[in-house]
Amino acid sequence: MKQVIKIEGGKSLNGEVYISGSKNATVALIPAAVLANEPVTILGVPEISDVASLSEILRILHADIEEKDDVLVIDPRNMVNVDLEQDVVTKLRASYYFMGALLGKYGYVRIKMPGGCYLGPRPIDLHIKGFEALGAVVTYERGGYTISADKLVGTKIFLDIASVGATINIMMASVYAEGRTTIENAAREPEIIDVATLLNKMGANIRGAGTNVITIDGVKNLNGCIHEIIPDRIEAGTFVIMAAACAEEMKISNIIPKHIEALTSKLEEMGVKMNIGVDSITVRHSDHLKAVDITTKPYPGFATDLQQPLTALLTQVQGVSHVTDTVYSERFKHCLELQRMGADIEITNGSSTITGPKKLYGDKVTATDLRCGASMIIAGLLAEGITEIHDIYHIDRGYDDIDGKLKKLGANIWRETIED
Ligand code: EPU
Repeated sequence: MKQVIKIEGGKSLNGEVYISGSKNATVALIPAAVLANEPVTILGVPEISDVASLSEILRILHADIEEKDDVLVIDPRNMVNVDLEQDVVTKLRASYYFMGALLGKYGYVRIKMPGGCYLGPRPIDLHIKGFEALGAVVTYERGGYTISADKLVGTKIFLDIASVGATINIMMASVYAEGRTTIENAAREPEIIDVATLLNKMGANIRGAGTNVITIDGVKNLNGCIHEIIPDRIEAGTFVIMAAACAEEMKISNIIPKHIEALTSKLEEMGVKMNIGVDSITVRHSDHLKAVDITTKPYPGFATDLQQPLTALLTQVQGVSHVTDTVYSERFKHCLELQRMGADIEITNGSSTITGPKKLYGDKVTATDLRCGASMIIAGLLAEGITEIHDIYHIDRGYDDIDGKLKKLGANIWRETIED
């Protein structure tokens, strides 16, 4: 037996939706909290299965955790540095943040290869090079890494690619290191600032997060603190695209509009009517949307995580749109599913060409990864008839109650349990 999401398309969306805490910040903040020697309280934790998986890893490490509504208290005082070879580690990508966190705290970590969405090859060579530059010895055997260091010593690390994961992992590994670590060509995503903010509240000395040079001066102790997670810019962007696709009038609240400026400027170019407030965006129905070209880039460029949801909308606009993904050149599986629903899309190496408008028809489709799932939901809202989405565990990994939120906005969306 398995669950599917079903959507009857053609309903218009109205009202207000409240965006949850950022998934990609949360999945780094939870491992970062174990670096403290006192309890850390995190507010605004989204209800997603990646958080459940990380909580399971915390329990394996004997950390005490208390979860109530959207508050998570992590007490690392009784922690034991257990080898992380359990299957849960492979359920998500972000388990790799325990590499930096446990190496930073104990000078040793043994962990299975992390999992996560398949978006083409996703190497972690830059994380490993960073740990080695700090003085660690890294070996790979029996499907996992052993990383150990007698002593971690600050140094200058230049990242060949501005990787989000490598930047955060090196930051975590170096908070207790001797002397100064400098990360050059660091990634600048808002989630990196959020993790640096938490670590600094704990007593770390990190400067420059949000720019491409981050310096970390090692400290001797990290204490507890309270931290509220930033809003999820990808969930926000997904709902803004949904609103552009099928809303009469819809307000997307609890967001930082600046974080999705690359998206909103494209939507403006397409002709979407929006009022951008301080912490919300209101989208009104607009006819005659025009085609646009998108090239994904690291922040503040157009987010790769939003090209898949946007592609569903591009099937409905007038003209030919091109989407190029320079971050993950194979992130185009959603296009095959959209084709099944009637979209006119050509996929070439690293890009897609969408000719619209083309009527979409409900069909059985698969959420091949998390943001493909969002793309399928948007296509389902737009399609004639019923869309049945399979492998929705990908969606539940990263969207907090997406079907509940859509139902409140007027969508006809529900879950069904079906035979495998
Ligand atoms: N890369 C390397 N070597 C490395 C690390 C990265 O070659 O050691 C390459 C990657 O293959 C990719 C590029 O560098 O081509 C950027 O990867 P990055 O490390 O920045 O990505 P990530 O940290 O693995 C995070 C998000 C992704 C998001 C990307 C890009 C988390 C847990 N994941 O992944 O989110 O797409 O940054 O913004 O924060 C999602 O939410 O759906 C998702 C996949």
